[in-house]
Amino acid sequence: MIVKLCNASELPAPGAMRTFRGHNLQLCVARPEDAPERICVFDNRCPHQGAPLNTGHLEGSTVVCPYHAWRFDIATGQPQMPCDPPLITYEARQYDDEIFIRIP
Ligand code: FES
Repeated sequence: MIVKLCNASELPAPGAMRTFRGHNLQLCVARPEDAPERICVFDNRCPHQGAPLNTGHLEGSTVVCPYHAWRFDIATGQPQMPCDPPLITYEARQYDDEIFIRIP
């Protein structure tokens, strides 16, 4: 299912994160400072113990959890430590001034 996430004007600045709710999801959107053209959308709940990742911080295209500093690639969801569970990510596309995501 493809749904509208937001308008392009609502995207966070490069290097910042912003949360969105809807469709029973708690989402976080970020644009890496080193690749601001990329729109990364991921579950805002850390797969470890559910910390709100938007209260952590970004290091390039890596989000660092505020609770225990687990790290995840925000484009792929891959954890820094291979034994950790991955972060759920969502495909995002921009059409004109609107941002859409694909929900499985
Ligand atoms: S809750 Fe995120 S690393 Fe523990």
